[in-house]
Amino acid sequence: MTARATFTGWGKCVPPVKLTNADLEQLVDTDNDWIVERTGIRERGISHVETTDLAEVAALRALAAAGLEPADIDMLILATVTPEITCPSNACVLQERLGATNAAAFDLNAACSGWIYGTAAAASMIAGGVAERVLLVGAEKLHWVMDYWDRSTCILFGDGAGAAVLEPSQGGDGVLGTDLGADGAAGRTMVFPTLGTRGRLSSVRDPFVHRLHFDGRAVFKIAVQGIEKSVRRALDQAGLSLAEVDAVIPHQANERIIAAAGRRLGLDPDRVMLNIATHGNSAAASVPMAMCDALESGLVQPGAIVVQTAFGGGVTWGSTVARWGERTTPLGTSDAELPPCNDTVFDLLAANRDFYAPLHHREGAVR
Ligand code: UT7
Repeated sequence: MTARATFTGWGKCVPPVKLTNADLEQLVDTDNDWIVERTGIRERGISHVETTDLAEVAALRALAAAGLEPADIDMLILATVTPEITCPSNACVLQERLGATNAAAFDLNAACSGWIYGTAAAASMIAGGVAERVLLVGAEKLHWVMDYWDRSTCILFGDGAGAAVLEPSQGGDGVLGTDLGADGAAGRTMVFPTLGTRGRLSSVRDPFVHRLHFDGRAVFKIAVQGIEKSVRRALDQAGLSLAEVDAVIPHQANERIIAAAGRRLGLDPDRVMLNIATHGNSAAASVPMAMCDALESGLVQPGAIVVQTAFGGGVTWGSTVARWGERTTPLGTSDAELPPCNDTVFDLLAANRDFYAPLHHREGAVR
């Protein structure tokens, strides 16, 4: 009999410094009402540390919640679209930090769908006997690639990390259905090449290449339609109906996207997890942070049917359907914390503003 993977531990790491809508009013031509009405976002985390620092705290909390030590893990998957290093992978950096010496480790890039792809990979590895105890982390330092002169993008994104442990289920709980997909042809709607060399050897980072290029309206449509179809396919695979779903944990990209997809699916908004107001869109970290909040708030109850769904750059999308186990509280807690930060949010964004300034202070500049 193949083992079904179930979530046994979870944890998140939220940066202490917030970028509020009032702060953004000082940086770009925007206002709180526009942002709240169009996106539902009121503030987002801005990290003073690197992606793997956020990942480490979330991972230690998830391990404690599962009652496990780092050495108990045999697979570590780190989903991120803002890796701080290419090789070694961020997962290997984290493996060393945690002392997860028995774990294989790799990074996974499916942008905002990274958590769902990671869950599917973890569940398949557990079912196939490749791994037994998987630590899955979604971590992002997205503000690094945000142009804080560009109001159409910089209001949306935030930093953070979420993590979970998946283990073979001992009962009827676990991942019951998955749907994954991609459309590379639509990939140009959301692009940030990070290093921007595209095969060219270059020691100079070009702010125009580096910044997020984003067609918000196109992504909005793709997202609403994509979520609906993907959730339906994952439920079909699980042999369940929408009426049987207790909780939906969607990627927190825009409250209006979530509401529109929810209406198409006929979902009661009370069953849908929303925490975008305080986190913004944190890409691969978004669903696991929302999952932690859904457990804390009681939206996820023992034995609940839980749908997790996301879409993002690539374009990619995915959904999982799981029956939650009997435990919705952590077995243990970790005292892991980020180092304190004495900088203001404007201090943290200063280097970024300087980097992108040339794009906005010359003739024909983008705006
Ligand atoms: O994780 C996946 C990645 N991202 C997403 O899923 C986001 C998907 N897209 C969206 O969430 C929305 O398209 C946005 C929030 C990005 C934009 O909302 P929208 O309702 O599609 O606005 P819009 O782009 O159609 O812009 C409407 C107006 C424009 O002015 P005009 O041309 O009508 O005069 C914009 O220039 O709003 C203006 N605008 C702003 N105004 C104040 C754009 N950004 C801002 C801003 N503050 N920050």
